[in-house]
Amino acid sequence: MLTKQRITELKRKGDGSNIAALITSQRDVGSINFILESLGHLPENFNSDFLYKLLKHNHSQVRLNAVKNVGKLNGKGDTSSLIALYRRETDTSVRREIVSSIGRQRKPANKSLFFDFLKDHDPKIVCQAIRGLLVFERDKEVKRYLRPLVNHPNEMVRTIIYKEYFSKENKNKNILSRIQTYDFLKNVVVNADVLEVLKVVPSESIHLTFTSPPYYNARDYSIYPSYQAYLEFLEKVFTETHRITKEGRFLVVNTSPIIIPRISRSHSSKRYAIPFDLHSCLVKNGWEFIDDIIWLKPEASVKNRVGGFMQHRKPLGYKPNSITEYLMVYRKSTEKLLDWNIHSYDNETVKQSKVAAGYETTNVWKIDPCFDKVHSAVFPVELCKRVIQYYSYKWDLVFDPFGGSGTVGRTAKLLDRLFFLTEKEEKYFEYMKSKTKNQKLFDRRTTQFLTLEQFQKEATNDINRSDSKKHCHTRY
Ligand SMILES: C[S@@+](CC[C@H](N)C(=O)[O-])C[C@H]1O[C@@H](n2cnc3c(N)ncnc32)[C@H](O)[C@@H]1O
Repeated sequence: MLTKQRITELKRKGDGSNIAALITSQRDVGSINFILESLGHLPENFNSDFLYKLLKHNHSQVRLNAVKNVGKLNGKGDTSSLIALYRRETDTSVRREIVSSIGRQRKPANKSLFFDFLKDHDPKIVCQAIRGLLVFERDKEVKRYLRPLVNHPNEMVRTIIYKEYFSKENKNKNILSRIQTYDFLKNVVVNADVLEVLKVVPSESIHLTFTSPPYYNARDYSIYPSYQAYLEFLEKVFTETHRITKEGRFLVVNTSPIIIPRISRSHSSKRYAIPFDLHSCLVKNGWEFIDDIIWLKPEASVKNRVGGFMQHRKPLGYKPNSITEYLMVYRKSTEKLLDWNIHSYDNETVKQSKVAAGYETTNVWKIDPCFDKVHSAVFPVELCKRVIQYYSYKWDLVFDPFGGSGTVGRTAKLLDRLFFLTEKEEKYFEYMKSKTKNQKLFDRRTTQFLTLEQFQKEATNDINRSDSKKHCHTRY
């Protein structure tokens, strides 16, 4: 019987010819692959001739496994057979494995082959070739080939090259550490247009943004001349948000497609796919897409759209009840791994911020919506709790450019985070104020409700103090 143990014994006893005989005696491709995948480390004296024959096998998985094993021959492999296969091979996995196998040989003589691989049409081959060449990163010729790839059409290639050669040249000149922020932003609500407010907020000041923007013209609180103007406004807000966000930190945007009702029975209503249209604006401006989370509501809580169809049942007239909204998760683009952000906190903060058991394990969050007597579109506290706990640490600064009734602020406080909100409408600003009235007594840092002018003054004083280094920024 063909077992892993038997293959290991044959490999240990012989010089490779008994493995070759075993493979020749197999009738089916599955068994050949099983043997090749079970070979593991190859001994010094291993006769690999049969592997080179298998490079010509008509089944691509066999060729792939043969290439992998040739790659284990530690510099003794015959590169010319691999190159010949690379030239005629059509299977992308086999082609990538060839480049990887030759790379593992770490032979300076192979450099020119890798310069050729850099021209391949498959970006994964180019990345693999870069990896092979970075072994000789001090070599001037290698540098001369690799640095220009910072302008390569493929984004993954550009990111690798940027990280290797350019990121160290663009050192962050921020005077605050990765976890500190300015005092004038802590537990502050400003009654003004967010774009005006952000003009005085320094770059890299906030840790997380969670927000629900206006729903184009579907609600009464904001009116835009056109959908294009609305998207352009949101693009400006999130580009500014990107600037004030610390490197590698998150933005979570809650939106859903909306409907603008028809003006009369002879016209149709219009749907706008806000999350999908907004997505490209965000990615274009330096937000890296991380996740799409679906907020699922009970059917009884949403507007009934399917009623008409239930009566007539005529195809094309189907309109399902919309019981979902999106939480689109983005990260400020960086070549740094998440650990770089996590390691900036001390052990105690990490321990205190750990998410307790019972957290959501899927990207579908079943949460009842919340209704409010003053504001028509408030976040449920449970939704805010999850976002804040999963995407920030204790005493981080959480920003909501579209503050509304202030749910993000109140929940941030509840979870020992700081918050910074802007809200344009005076009636909602006053409403937030009234909701916060009784909470001041036990606060570590009481909430300040400011006009734009008051905020600008506070900002100037604090930034001047920070620049002159006379001020020590606490975490809370
Ligand atoms: C969908 S609501 C947010 C509700 C909020 N998430 C809550 O839980 O109460 C959007 C809010 O953005 C505000 N808004 C619209 N345009 C704004 C702007 N340019 N600057 C600041 N706030 C704005 C609206 O007045 C509205 O209260």
